[in-house]
Amino acid sequence: MQIKQTSEIFSKATYVHIIGTKSQIPDFFPKELIDYVPTFEKSEDKHVTIKSIDKSYILVKQKLDSEPLRKEGAKIISAISSPKQNVYVSGSENDLYFLLEGMALASYAFTKYFTDEKKREKREEIFVSSELSKAKLEELNASISAVFWARDMVNEPLSYLTAEKFAFEMKSLAKKAPLNITVLEKAQIEALKMGGLLAVNKGSIDPPSFTILEYKPEKPRNSKPIVFVGKGVVYDTGGLSLKPTPGSMDVMKSDMGGGAAVAGAVYLAALWKLDVHVIALVPATDNRPGLNAYTPGDIVTMYDGTTVEVLNTDAEGRMILADALAYSKKYEPELVIDAATLTGAAVKAIGSHASIIMGNADQKYFNQLNDAGNTSFDRVVQFPFWDEYFEEMKSKIADLKNIGSGNAGMITAGKFLEHFVKSPYIHMDIAGPAWTDSTSGYITSGGTGAGVRLLANFLKNYN
Ligand code: BES
Ligand code: ZN
Ligand code: ZN
Repeated sequence: MQIKQTSEIFSKATYVHIIGTKSQIPDFFPKELIDYVPTFEKSEDKHVTIKSIDKSYILVKQKLDSEPLRKEGAKIISAISSPKQNVYVSGSENDLYFLLEGMALASYAFTKYFTDEKKREKREEIFVSSELSKAKLEELNASISAVFWARDMVNEPLSYLTAEKFAFEMKSLAKKAPLNITVLEKAQIEALKMGGLLAVNKGSIDPPSFTILEYKPEKPRNSKPIVFVGKGVVYDTGGLSLKPTPGSMDVMKSDMGGGAAVAGAVYLAALWKLDVHVIALVPATDNRPGLNAYTPGDIVTMYDGTTVEVLNTDAEGRMILADALAYSKKYEPELVIDAATLTGAAVKAIGSHASIIMGNADQKYFNQLNDAGNTSFDRVVQFPFWDEYFEEMKSKIADLKNIGSGNAGMITAGKFLEHFVKSPYIHMDIAGPAWTDSTSGYITSGGTGAGVRLLANFLKNYN
């Protein structure tokens, strides 16, 4: 999906214009629509449409806020019956950016598994007038491609997206942007003694992977890197603590949404050429109850030497993240942020409208993340992170156990992870927004790409 600049006037198209002081309604718009503008401006309607046989003309009211424009963009796209119908948009630059962002994000569809060619069709392009600058156009196209990549990854089933394939898909990102990539294979993960990742992988017949994606510009603003860590559980059955199916295990191909978010964000940072040094670590495996699966009651020695009593094999995300978080120490990061579809508790607490953030980093970073959330409307909400919650994670027979009492599960999980990080830390539970069963505006059903625009915008204004 690409937004393209053109001055061509199509014979068949949907023409959209955002009215406003700075932009002229194109003169080819029907006179009756132009004459209607004063009435339209006074009305409650957000847009007005006139249709002829092969053309539609839509006037959209200028909005002061970005989000109503994105939502309007999504409505326009859903009103156009065929993805083959050309769409051309004009208006002034700021309005255009947000309307197009909504239109483009709403055009996403995961159709590759349909055998019927007609059903595989999706919108490939949207045209825009020269009122949108080249720089803004590139910025927007980059953002769309990063989000679409993340959505694709989350939507891919396990039969395609194994841990190795996920690493391979991240390699393909590194070919399209100035990124360095290293993929550790099972033998290397064993040599490093990443006990948490290996324990979760024991029930699987597919090997784990550990991907290191780095974006290092020539003159970075930060002297030490920011490290992102993303949960890459390509499928979570729960392991021996098996999940029920409806509404639970059946959507667990999405359990690598955190990995997709951090890789997508670093990719976008590279495409945007931000002056920030950032590294993404993505430990990946599926979590299965295979013959040799790790068991409730097992004690695992983690990468950093901590021993963990496993009381629920479904609390696997923290097992693999803990190793990656401990591994981040070698970069002496300025800040570590993880993104993970970590707990059902996060979904219960706030639903799908935000990710939950918590941690021990300076409050200014939380504020910057919150600002990035409001800018992108990929929002966050901060939860407490008191040490009292950590008490629940202490085991009678090992250093830690992998589950708490059951209350405030998203926070006890965060406190477990904090134990393994030696740098200022923010934990982000994206379990709510990462997946949706039904389309709402520009958030299309399935994987949403949550976290990509959020984290990239955070890096953009990082200081
Ligand atoms: N992947 C799940 C969390 C999840 C639940 C993500 C719903 C998205 C939607 C995670 O691995 C898990 O199973 N967590 C358990 C932890 C519990 C056993 C302490 C949970 O939340 O129930
Ligand atoms: Zn689980
Ligand atoms: Zn999981």
